[in-house]
Amino acid sequence: MSVEKTLALIKPDAVERGLQGEIIGRILKKGFRILAMKQLLLTRHQAEAFYREHEARPFFSPLCEYMTSGPIIAFALEKENGIADWRELMGATNPADAAEGTIRKDLAVDIEKNSVHGSDSPESAHREVPFFFNRLEY
Ligand code: RTP
Ligand code: MG
Repeated sequence: MSVEKTLALIKPDAVERGLQGEIIGRILKKGFRILAMKQLLLTRHQAEAFYREHEARPFFSPLCEYMTSGPIIAFALEKENGIADWRELMGATNPADAAEGTIRKDLAVDIEKNSVHGSDSPESAHREVPFFFNRLEY
């Protein structure tokens, strides 16, 4: 295992419900270092660029609509085995399938409004961290 950087997002549904502190607490308790953190409102163009791998999926347009519906918080996280560990802490995409004790099981609304995002591989982390943060920020 190696120390990995990963991109985490708190999505609009969770920011709107005031769950930032709860989620940041879980991130720190799991042993992540927060290298960088900021709140922002994505433009439609930025959301489409971020999710371009899902361009052909039926949920692409509603997903971009939702992700631009309110502010999000982006984090550059670092930890040993960080990419998989953050995905584990998030839980399955659909909260109905997520394991007990995960963020999505405990806090998410539905398969779309699932409260958090995490890079799913080293390749996506290498693309996604610089999408939100410049080299001086992490
Ligand atoms: P994420 O990228 O946000 O970390 O989530 P994920 O890997 O678990 O899920 P992914 O398959 O990459 O899907 C990206 C996001 O699209 C929304 N989604 N909606 N309505 C649907 O069937 C559906 N499926 C996915 C979710 O917000 C999901 O996190
Ligand atoms: Mg994904």
